[in-house]
Amino acid sequence: MTLTESATSFHEHLVHEHSAHNYHPLPVVVANARGAWVTDVEGRRYLDCLAGYSALNFGHGHPDLLAAAHRQLDRVTLTSRAFGSDQLGPFCAELSALLGKQMVLPMNTGAEAVESGIKVARKWGYEVKGVPEDRAQIVVMAGGFHGRTTTIVGFSTDPDARGGFGPFTPGFVVVPYGADDPDRDALRAAITPDTVAVLVEPIQGEAGVVVPPAGYLPAVRAICDEARVLFVADEVQAGLGRTGRLLATRAAGVDADVYLLGKALGGGIMPLSAVVADADVLGVLQPGQHGSTFGGNPLACAVGRAVLTLLADEGPDGMLARARRLGDVLHTRLAGLVGHGVLAVRGMGLWAGVDIEPRLGTGRAVSEAMMRRGVLVKDTHGSSVRLSPPLVITEAELHAAVDALEGALADLA
Ligand SMILES: Cc1ncc(COP(=O)(O)O)c(C=O)c1O
Repeated sequence: MTLTESATSFHEHLVHEHSAHNYHPLPVVVANARGAWVTDVEGRRYLDCLAGYSALNFGHGHPDLLAAAHRQLDRVTLTSRAFGSDQLGPFCAELSALLGKQMVLPMNTGAEAVESGIKVARKWGYEVKGVPEDRAQIVVMAGGFHGRTTTIVGFSTDPDARGGFGPFTPGFVVVPYGADDPDRDALRAAITPDTVAVLVEPIQGEAGVVVPPAGYLPAVRAICDEARVLFVADEVQAGLGRTGRLLATRAAGVDADVYLLGKALGGGIMPLSAVVADADVLGVLQPGQHGSTFGGNPLACAVGRAVLTLLADEGPDGMLARARRLGDVLHTRLAGLVGHGVLAVRGMGLWAGVDIEPRLGTGRAVSEAMMRRGVLVKDTHGSSVRLSPPLVITEAELHAAVDALEGALADLA
């Protein structure tokens, strides 16, 4: 670093030269973080209203999660699944109990949970439903986001996500999501005797926090029941408190057969994901048929257990109650911006997709203007910004975040 170079540009230069260019981050280089706040290498503080795409639902460095991690670090961090650990069983039992399902398959990333869910659904199709070998079909939703593996991007409708990465895995059928399939006719038409699962986000996060109409998820459930098809809910981003509920699917009055969890499950400390289902589904896996060196490692499970303890707190200052209460504040404030630089707002709990009037600029321009006002958010799909502050944010901080959005819109007007 030269005397004239800022610490930020020094780090940006290193990343530009030596890290693959698969992201376009805001020019903020974080050095420290606590709660809802991050501090960059220049000593500037920002309110983090992205929260690691919901991986940091409990904020940065939550004391209970850090304590669990520190305790486990000094004991044992990795055994592989060739041996047991004294964290795996309790983690799986506690997660099963919290969700009211019988079994857990622990993995690491969200994409791995989705891949694992796909494998389990196919195997269930062949062994339980009786679908002929190699014929299994899975119905997925246009606009959905489920991760970055070759199989997953193969059924994405986002040209950036899939372009240049083929050939892709067969066995997926894409139908319109939510309000775009008003009578669910496209979904019904896509289901054949070979369909084993419908894979759906209860709220589409990366698409811009798209909430389906009230009757949508119950209708999907009914169609799955009629055709003996598994309802697989990708709750990697929507689940674990973000919407003010443990599971966004259940907020719609529906229980899925398979839940896919990730992000917040590891408390923003460890990558930890899971497939959660009853034994008639997850029981199809036998030794040697699926695995992961790090999946279910003792350090991740110890942090995950502390996360589950936070989520099980149903008191007035528990995470779910906070997300509901503060979510009302957030959505009331944002509704007041519609017609004042904002076209529309969607969301639930502490989660919002905000469509910016195109005359003011892109979602990226709004994100940059908010950054200059000390608040970090992320644009999606060109003209939207997404707010997903940590659930530990205070009401005053939340107001400051919306003030920054209001100020950013004024800056661009
Ligand atoms: C709904 C959903 N599923 C899966 C994933 C993939 O998770 P990961 O990035 O941990 O692989 C994401 C990530 O944003 C997501 O939002």
